[in-house]
Amino acid sequence: MKMPGVDGRVVIVTGAGGGLGREYALDLAANGARVVVNDLGGARDGSGAGSAMADEVVAEIREAGGEAVANYDSVATAEGAAGIVATALDAFGSVHGVVSNAGILRDASFAKLDDAGWDAVQQVHLYGGYYVTHAVWPLFREQGFGRIVVATSTSGLYGNFGQANYGAAKSGLIGLINTLAIEGAKNDIKANAIAPLAATRMTEDIAPAEFLEKLPPAFVAPVVTHLMSEELEETGSVFVVGGGQVQRVQQFQNKGVTFATPPTASEVADRWSEITDMAGATPGRNPLG
Ligand code: NAI
Repeated sequence: MKMPGVDGRVVIVTGAGGGLGREYALDLAANGARVVVNDLGGARDGSGAGSAMADEVVAEIREAGGEAVANYDSVATAEGAAGIVATALDAFGSVHGVVSNAGILRDASFAKLDDAGWDAVQQVHLYGGYYVTHAVWPLFREQGFGRIVVATSTSGLYGNFGQANYGAAKSGLIGLINTLAIEGAKNDIKANAIAPLAATRMTEDIAPAEFLEKLPPAFVAPVVTHLMSEELEETGSVFVVGGGQVQRVQQFQNKGVTFATPPTASEVADRWSEITDMAGATPGRNPLG
């Protein structure tokens, strides 16, 4: 059955020429969305480019009776993001949702990480997420509707050896949607994040084959489609999705301790077990917000 609140909507999926993005594009189109299939068409490390990946997914969608258009711009520049939005407007006249999914890997232990490896990953993931959401933001505000999903990662939530660059970018995207959820609230703009777990070219040599077998991308896509729907209430949330599990992740803050006057470092040390005790912790909120 089609999701009624997705049917006819125009959704941009970045990095949709393969892996998870392809699956998101196929599922959105199967639910009646008109999809912009963006993909730079390069290698896993971000090198190279080509049109074949996006074209193949567009062909698949059309063969199944859906509507899609290809775009080959890079999300890593403001011009690229503007080009993606222009493709949507030229083909379909509007944009209702964005799945910021494009990604690359330049894994290296922190000792071996160089500036180029740091920059390339920030540029595609964090700047890419910023450029694409910033390009649609005025449209979303004007029409009083918008759905945003960014791809984060358990590496961003919890860290992972060799992924300081990637984890920092992925964690930054959660910071982005936290504020977009607040600023978008009055215009029915909902912004959420997915930390997927799926067998793709990105994970093929990272996890054991027996584990990856249980993680087809098809388990993740319906959650993204739901997060694009008109009836969605959810915003500012993060979900870990893969292998059939769909879980919400939230930050909790404990009771901690309260010092009436500035403590000494040894007074802080004396109360450390209370400061770090998470018993009775509640969801955190910004005391300045
Ligand atoms: P993938 O490598 O199959 O897909 C990424 C796609 O992004 C590729 O088709 C690539 O050509 C495209 N792309 C790369 N740079 C681009 C650019 N500058 N502009 C436009 N397109 C570009 O990898 P996968 O696994 O499908 O990853 C999708 C997203 O999910 C990524 O953001 C990734 O970091 C994230 N993710 C994936 C996990 C997994 O288990 N597969 C785990 C956690 C996060």
